[in-house]
Amino acid sequence: MTKAKIIGLGSYFPKKVLTNKDLEKMVDTTDEWIVTRTGINERRIADENEFTSDMAYEASKNALEDAKIKAEDIDLILVATLTPDYIFPSTACLVQNKLQANNAAAIDIQAACSGYVYALSFAKSLVEQKVYKNVLIVASEKLSSITDYQDRSTCILFGDAASACVVSLNGKGLEIESVYLGADGKMSDLLILPAGGCKKPATLDTVKNKEHFLKMDGKEVYKHAVRRMGEATKKCLEMANLHESDISWLVPHQANERIIDAIAKRFTHLPKEKVYKEVVYKFGNTSASSVGIALDLLKKGNKLKKDEYILLSVFGAGFTFGGCILKNLG
Ligand code: ACO
Repeated sequence: MTKAKIIGLGSYFPKKVLTNKDLEKMVDTTDEWIVTRTGINERRIADENEFTSDMAYEASKNALEDAKIKAEDIDLILVATLTPDYIFPSTACLVQNKLQANNAAAIDIQAACSGYVYALSFAKSLVEQKVYKNVLIVASEKLSSITDYQDRSTCILFGDAASACVVSLNGKGLEIESVYLGADGKMSDLLILPAGGCKKPATLDTVKNKEHFLKMDGKEVYKHAVRRMGEATKKCLEMANLHESDISWLVPHQANERIIDAIAKRFTHLPKEKVYKEVVYKFGNTSASSVGIALDLLKKGNKLKKDEYILLSVFGAGFTFGGCILKNLG
């Protein structure tokens, strides 16, 4: 069976840079603490009038241009985000309108930081079963809108950005070899936006108690992220009938350098420059967007050689987790 491929990639970064030095002036922290514990040097912050759908639109335009297809050739738009413009309508519908992708169905996927890989799994199935020809995946996050810039344990981690790709049967690019998805809903309280849903609609009290900002038990999330991403990489390799030594690039979710290093331990043959970390260094944790940005920068930086295998490994709130193996067809 012909396998689905990523035939075009794109990303978008807001202009405003928030450095660790800037954060030193906002909360009780230091550049040294942030770099040592996370690897993050700076992150981007969207303008107050720039929203998830706007960043998604910019990244999508880049991906369509890279794929050399027009917006009207897209049959389905999947937007992965945990910071949609509205609870409804979906951000995917807003993106469909901005792109004038008039032949596309549109739906949001809420799998937190694992959203890009979840979307790749759905796009692969739908394209290979010939339900759709061209699927546009967009991951876009305005995490600054749910971050408490008085909470030093979270505000140092997150940034805003978007990434996109076009999945199709035709054309060259990154062939999708295997995708593994998992979830563990028992741990949903460890990383959560407590209010704003039907369980706790917005009230004066929810605002006063800062329940519209994300809350995270960092230590626990860290442990689960390492375990689950490790499992996901293993499952994904089994599904593709490959071994660790076949992988040329490891691209874990860009949340924290220490988590990335822990995942990389299994891949002893990989030189350190092939464990991808540039996104976490420069953009912090951009949730669903992160692995898509990494792929775009790797491909456009001409870093990928023909027939190399790239392994993506992700983890997010829910918990959700997953992995994906891609082969660069050149
Ligand atoms: N600056 C200085 N000190 C700080 C800061 C800060 N920004 N934040 C916390 N501290 C302090 C704490 O108060 C604590 O002080 P204490 O010992 O006096 O109580 C001390 O530093 C250690 O705090 P820990 O929380 O134990 O620090 P840890 O080494 O665990 O690092 C971190 C915290 C970076 C958040 C880590 O737990 C982590 O990366 N967790 C995973 C987070 C993550 O990746 N989440 C996202 C995954 S899913 C998704 O992407 C949505």
